[in-house]
Amino acid sequence: MTTIKIGMLGFGTVGSGVVERLTQAAAKIEQTHGLHLELTTVAVHHLHAPRQAKLPAGTRLTTVLTDVVSDPQIQLVIEVMGTVTTAKQAITTALEHGKSVITANKDLIATAGQDLIDLAHRNRCDLFYEASVAGGIPILRTLTDSYATDTIQAVTGILNGTANYILSAMTQTGQTYPRALAAAQAAGYAESDPTNDVGGLDTTYKLMILTRLAFGQQVTQAQIAPRGITTLTADQCQAAAKSGWTIKLLAQAQRQAHHLYCRVAPVALDSTHALSRIDGVQNGVAIQSQAIGESLYAGPGAGSTATANSVLNDVLVAAQRFREGTRGTAITGVTTDPLPVINLAALPQ
Ligand code: HSE
Repeated sequence: MTTIKIGMLGFGTVGSGVVERLTQAAAKIEQTHGLHLELTTVAVHHLHAPRQAKLPAGTRLTTVLTDVVSDPQIQLVIEVMGTVTTAKQAITTALEHGKSVITANKDLIATAGQDLIDLAHRNRCDLFYEASVAGGIPILRTLTDSYATDTIQAVTGILNGTANYILSAMTQTGQTYPRALAAAQAAGYAESDPTNDVGGLDTTYKLMILTRLAFGQQVTQAQIAPRGITTLTADQCQAAAKSGWTIKLLAQAQRQAHHLYCRVAPVALDSTHALSRIDGVQNGVAIQSQAIGESLYAGPGAGSTATANSVLNDVLVAAQRFREGTRGTAITGVTTDPLPVINLAALPQ
């Protein structure tokens, strides 16, 4: 049995889920992989804030980030703080100390991911971020591993659980926008400030991450120029449904004639389209590729347990690579010659 010592930054909704999943899966991981994952230290803002999960006996709480990122005993760091500047500094320090890092931070990975991936490789450690896109769906590993020999032509996704939950509630039960948003917040799907969920920016960050892996292209927020769902009403959603359309907040990236067309906007989908049936907190990603045509990946896109499960899977892969001495060699970002990006939303429809 090999013991891998882990530190965690943040102990909110996702962090609590990580502690619970780690406890639930410990015996299975020990039996099937011969790894004992020991959470030694958790860094938090407030030591005595109420928590949704109970730490294992022996795990230490601290308010000092360097107790985690600079501790020579700790081999893997889980970042679930959710801020950008502090998280970036903390991850940078951890990578510089040779620790592999697992993060759920889409804002950070979308905007600074390639620099951090390069830093990880220079320090011969890993940076994994499966939980940053589509919650519990293992979409990033699917893109990097299962499409490694194929050529992707288009990625279309419902990537925000909160927005999809709101649109489904407005369409199916006529719930008002504020009530549906409040319910998504109460269920732990929304960010602490839900502006990015409903304004399309959270979906944009996730699309930026997907386009890097699917097309080797770094697209910017300005190029996507997202539109959100804040001005939609239950009446509009229900009227569309009566005419055979389902309104979804869609992320699209499509390679065509040496250009990459991108868009994040509410779109009325024909109700026979597979993505029109992705409801509530579910996310769905449709991938069109040369060799296998269209495939659909669907599952829970937000929520403590689903997101934490993706974090834990990354932890297990990082721990195995730590033991085997193969860390720092994963293909986690590719950049090919940049394609001109065209914002689909700006084209006449
Ligand atoms: N607030 C996000 C969502 C969480 O609703 O999809 C998962 O990234």
